[in-house]
Amino acid sequence: MSDRFVWSAVDDFITSSLARSDEALDAALADSAAAGLPAIQVSAAQGKLLHLLAKLAGARSILEVGTLGGYSTIWLARALPPGGRLVTLEIDPKHAAVATKNLERAGLGVVADVRVGKALDSLPKLDGPFDFVFIDADKGNNAAYFEWALRLARVGTAIVIDNVVRDGKVIDAASTDANVIGVRKLNERVATEARVSATTIQTVGHKGYDGFTFALVTS
Ligand code: SAH
Ligand code: DHB
Ligand code: MG
Repeated sequence: MSDRFVWSAVDDFITSSLARSDEALDAALADSAAAGLPAIQVSAAQGKLLHLLAKLAGARSILEVGTLGGYSTIWLARALPPGGRLVTLEIDPKHAAVATKNLERAGLGVVADVRVGKALDSLPKLDGPFDFVFIDADKGNNAAYFEWALRLARVGTAIVIDNVVRDGKVIDAASTDANVIGVRKLNERVATEARVSATTIQTVGHKGYDGFTFALVTS
């Protein structure tokens, strides 16, 4: 039962009932695929989770690191109240262009600000505080992005990081995979940071076996 086929079928079941797609989300996926972007965006169920978490956090300002075609961006930006804002950072101008178009079509062109460039170059130019941060870019820089998230946070800010389990490879201390090393470094950094309370939840579904780390800034 517990194989990838079942994970995917259950993801379909969740998506068709609770985490339903719509025209703007479907079009964002279709145009991202047509433009040749890798299909590594969050699943619909995960996008809905991000949306609900941003709502739970009462987020009026959201920071995303790693835009791709703006799929997670749409889920997140839709959690904002009127007057809310979202900044999303993307290194690849082609990804950013696809995302900008997808966000405009979703009616979020004014709310979501796509900044092109290396995230580590854009982050020092941002004005906080952000109420919610989603980190989902190059995994080797995860710890640095977490550092910036803290710097741009306030007490009560929620920080969510994607792809932190990586098929279980996260527990391999001898790994030479830059992504795994990045995730392990992040984990150590979060674990030893007194200003946050955090946990990691493992996930299965369309995207296979992975996980999210959730950190709440408490002081
Ligand atoms: N959050 C998206 C998926 C992001 S995929 C979603 O779920 O829909 C990761 C993205 O991070 C890619 O588009 C990649 O180009 C971008 N990226 C990689 N390195 C980066 C860097 N140094 N700065 C900013 N973005 C980067
Ligand atoms: C992959 C998945 C992701 O969610 C991501 O942010 C980067 C890469 C992947 O499956 O390769
Ligand atoms: Mg990801």
